[in-house]
Amino acid sequence: MSEIKGEPNHIQLPNGLSLPRIGFGVFRIKYADCYDLVTAALDTGYRRIDTSEVYGNEDVCGKAVIDWCERNRAPRTDIILSTKLANCSDYAATRASIRSSLHHLGTYIDIFSIFSPAAGSKARIESWRVMEEFVDRGDIRYLGVCNYGIKHLEELYASEPKYFPIVNQIELHPFLARDDIVNWCKGHDILVEAYSPLTNGIRLQDPTLVELANSVGVDVPRLLLRWSLEKGYIPIVQCTNLDQIKHNLNIFSFQIPEEIKDRITSLDEHWHADSSYDPTICE
Ligand SMILES: NC(=O)c1ccc[n+]([C@@H]2O[C@H](COP(=O)([O-])OP(=O)(O)OC[C@H]3O[C@@H](n4cnc5c(N)ncnc54)[C@H](OP(=O)(O)O)[C@@H]3O)[C@@H](O)[C@H]2O)c1
Repeated sequence: MSEIKGEPNHIQLPNGLSLPRIGFGVFRIKYADCYDLVTAALDTGYRRIDTSEVYGNEDVCGKAVIDWCERNRAPRTDIILSTKLANCSDYAATRASIRSSLHHLGTYIDIFSIFSPAAGSKARIESWRVMEEFVDRGDIRYLGVCNYGIKHLEELYASEPKYFPIVNQIELHPFLARDDIVNWCKGHDILVEAYSPLTNGIRLQDPTLVELANSVGVDVPRLLLRWSLEKGYIPIVQCTNLDQIKHNLNIFSFQIPEEIKDRITSLDEHWHADSSYDPTICE
């Protein structure tokens, strides 16, 4: 199948950043496999790698990106490398965390996000101030948040930040719509990143999804990733199978008919892949 004419695979932001429309995540990838899988993802065409302090693999992700750029004589600016602060805290601890991430990655950070709002208001605001300092020093290009609900976003905006978040990374798939958070972000020019876009693999056999995927002529993973793109999200997908890594990127060559898209969207049941975890509602 040929690519849809004129459909870009990057989003151009007013601030000049060109952000890939799909990212490769490394949350549950075994440490020993991570370097090779990130390299394979880059070879396949992914240009966004999403790691985190808490995943314990920043060093191999950074090395894979640096080596890939060298080997391919590509500028480091071709890749968007994002990582996250494990815990919001006070000035000294946040500073130490960011320094540690920079040390492990061995390169600057394109997007640095707060992983979770769970540490409370004071820590969230204090950590954000420290993150802004690292932007001013040139170590971080852009800031973001993860798992922020509306009240966390409103709190951040009310704190008169020097820099606003460019992304909010939240769990999003047809079974978890979160229209309230999505609409708030869209209204404030925050890009919505969808983590667990494949439901963490749990609901890929769902009979309705299988039927809808068949009617579009694709499989469920590609249907879900394409749906995510068409909703305007940036899906962050994880995969350890080399063929599937490639296959998951093949989503720029078809469109989902409007009536099928509506049926997928209507599947929302406020279901979380990790039922014990909804940080968007924490204090
Ligand atoms: N900010 C946060 O709080 C947060 C939380 C969770 C995740 N994330 C980010 O989002 C990324 C992805 O999330 P996720 O891992 O929860 O879920 P996901 O991408 O929805 O699902 C990953 C699962 O789907 C399977 N899979 C991938 N492609 C497939 C295909 N074509 N056919 C069949 N199965 C396929 C994978 O299997 P194999 O692994 O066996 O290949 C894995 O079990 C993470 O790596 C991380 O970067 C962020």
